[in-house]
Amino acid sequence: MTTKVAILGFGTVGQGVYQILQNKQKQLTHLTGESVQLCGVLVQDKAKERILPESVLVTDQFDEILAQEPDVIFEAIVGEQPSFSYLTTAIDRRIHVITANKVMFAKHGTHLLDKAANRVGMGYEATTASGTPIIGTITKLLQVNSVTKIEAILNGTSNFILTSMQNEGKSLKTALKEAQDQGFAEADPTNDIEGYDAFYKLMILSQLIYKKQPNWGNVPCEGISNVTAEDLAFAKTNGQKIRHIAAIEEKNGELYAGIKPKALSPAHGLHSVDGVDNAIHIISDLAGPLTLRGPGAGKLSTASAMVEDFVHILQSYPVKLLQY
Ligand code: NDP
Ligand code: HSE
Repeated sequence: MTTKVAILGFGTVGQGVYQILQNKQKQLTHLTGESVQLCGVLVQDKAKERILPESVLVTDQFDEILAQEPDVIFEAIVGEQPSFSYLTTAIDRRIHVITANKVMFAKHGTHLLDKAANRVGMGYEATTASGTPIIGTITKLLQVNSVTKIEAILNGTSNFILTSMQNEGKSLKTALKEAQDQGFAEADPTNDIEGYDAFYKLMILSQLIYKKQPNWGNVPCEGISNVTAEDLAFAKTNGQKIRHIAAIEEKNGELYAGIKPKALSPAHGLHSVDGVDNAIHIISDLAGPLTLRGPGAGKLSTASAMVEDFVHILQSYPVKLLQY
């Protein structure tokens, strides 16, 4: 038996998914009981050269992807649309979907999860903290706990830039260019450096933990674009590091959230988080304070989360049984 998969978007993340599907073929077959066949790749610019076998359809038309009758779609394109429409259609066609697209998922995740429920699998681990398994940890391992607060570093690019500026004296511009070259930053890095990327991830976590989101207009959101070398030098003289912090807390049934750069002293649990890492500090009633840390961006780390979702979905839903 074969599982047919399609990849929407063949940039940093899409290529990472392809690489893992290739390199882990045997293990994936062993884990899912089926061999995996890539049947199509959706891109914006068909003319760009792609390193793919000739048998794989490369198209800019989603209908042509659907015509290949994939069992599973990996979505790694950019922005709310057309991603939301594509995934809606895919779920209607009983195709399992796995996304890395946090902009789309923060807005439409609940709708998609409701639509997918009891019909197909919907994976979104990669939307938040890349391959660091925060979604799975909260979903599967903290079900009885009440989470009162989380404080987190959720944008790998910002953390990479702040670390490079403070430790190596680099300018924001130089550090951002390095983050782009390494595939951490978005093609348009505005969301990274102005805090919106962390905002979207915080909203995804809010929905997961509290089953609701604060009114977006009431969440102060500040990025790192105004952090200066002087700010970082001053923090350093006090043994502090400036880190981009996203926090959300529930008090008396109300959610309070905010995103901003903060000077952290060495005693703070997120002080040691350097480079492209993300970390999520969770305060709950039973498990106590927990911190999960790992790479927050990058090709294989993000694709890892998507392929782990893929295995979990195939193990949970026998694909062929769901097709009419
Ligand atoms: P890239 O810019 O590297 O790649 C985007 C890909 O999507 C390209 O192949 C592009 O086509 C294609 N694409 C963009 N818009 C469309 C469209 N409307 N229709 C069809 N194809 C389209 O982005 P990344 O791979 O870095 O990121 C992909 C997604 O994953 C984003 O939503 C991002 O936020 C998310 N993400 C990224 C992480 C990272 O570390 N990079 C980590 C976690 C999530 P073409 O090649 O023709 O230009
Ligand atoms: N641009 C994002 C970041 C990718 O730097 O965190 C991971 O979502």
